[in-house]
Amino acid sequence: MIAVAVLGHGVVGSGVVEVLERSRASISKKAGTDLYVKKILDIRDFSHLPYGHLFTKSFDEIVSDPEIRVVVEVMGGISPAFEYVSAALRAGKSVVTSNKELVAAKGAALVQLAREHGQNFLFEASVGGGTPIIRPLHQSLVADEIDEIVGILNGTTNFILTKMIQENMGFDEALKIAQKLGYAEANPAADVEGLDTCRKICILASLAFGSHVYPDTVEMQGITNITLEDIQYAEDENCVIKLLGQTRRIDGKCFVSTGPCLVSKESPLARVDDVFNAILVRGEVTGDVVFYGKGAGKLPTASAVVSDIIDCVTAEGPIATLQWSDSDGSNVIDAREDVCPRYLRCRGKGLLAKIGAAFGEVHILRRPGKPADEEAFTTAPVSGYELEEKLAALASQGVEVLSNLRVWRP
Ligand code: HSE
Repeated sequence: MIAVAVLGHGVVGSGVVEVLERSRASISKKAGTDLYVKKILDIRDFSHLPYGHLFTKSFDEIVSDPEIRVVVEVMGGISPAFEYVSAALRAGKSVVTSNKELVAAKGAALVQLAREHGQNFLFEASVGGGTPIIRPLHQSLVADEIDEIVGILNGTTNFILTKMIQENMGFDEALKIAQKLGYAEANPAADVEGLDTCRKICILASLAFGSHVYPDTVEMQGITNITLEDIQYAEDENCVIKLLGQTRRIDGKCFVSTGPCLVSKESPLARVDDVFNAILVRGEVTGDVVFYGKGAGKLPTASAVVSDIIDCVTAEGPIATLQWSDSDGSNVIDAREDVCPRYLRCRGKGLLAKIGAAFGEVHILRRPGKPADEEAFTTAPVSGYELEEKLAALASQGVEVLSNLRVWRP
């Protein structure tokens, strides 16, 4: 028999308990041993639940219990999650988490600590919810060199953008529906300002390229400034707007970026709607592989956590393929070095001449009801440095830039 403790009884924590209780027999069969939840840590009162007797407010009770071999951290946040996870690993327990904030901030240190203590620190649910991506990256695709990963990694923002694209709905109304359906984080800023996607692409880049990528070294833009006008102009380019996390290997370093992009309708990512996530992994010899599934929600995420618990129980020591080194940030290039086409929407007088002088040939876009002092266009590939110069030239001529997005073409 192997006992499991769950730290946090929120949406994911209660889902983990539900999955483990509901499917205890089949999960135990797959794990080769009887798996059961012995303790749940939460400061709130859940004594009314059928399993109310399992709750404790004392982490010491969990960390000092030799029967507990796997600790599931689903509290979220860095502290006290980091201290609890570190203490559990030091006490010789494996740890499973869905906490992307923790993995993005402390992943290299925690994977290393787990190895020092002969344990595992697993986090499949931290990216893609119920969509497998961590295990495929370090197991199925381990023989290949990864060149690029591009993903729709946040269900809430994909749901909002889908409502804007398909129903012509404004941002605020779409966000309210996403919150009502329970997709958004408690604080939706992490979703809509891009931080959630940024943390997830950092985790994928760290794993794929072998050095930790810290979120504060990464270019980040959210979707709060995307308007229905941008959606209409994108349509004229045969594109949709999607919030992408992107990373590419470049001369031993990597480019990492989070932001809304115009995505060609020819791309499989353009057809990923609602709360779904999709992650395109481009391997040097494998080519493109796309992972698609529910990126949020109680039971899909809980299922990913439980599969990690089974991996912890069946693994013979630390899983060799799951590791990367810490870094000082020099592994990430300045995002302005990246060269890609841009979508720009501007307001001002005499725009066509000024745009032509700055960018040369561009593709001017149309939308119904376009005011005379507004133009939107896509450019030839341009680096971030060149773009800064051109935008400064436009600003000096009284042109206001309303939108500035990357165009991602597969
Ligand atoms: N708020 C996140 C999302 C939850 O919408 O994708 C899963 O990480």
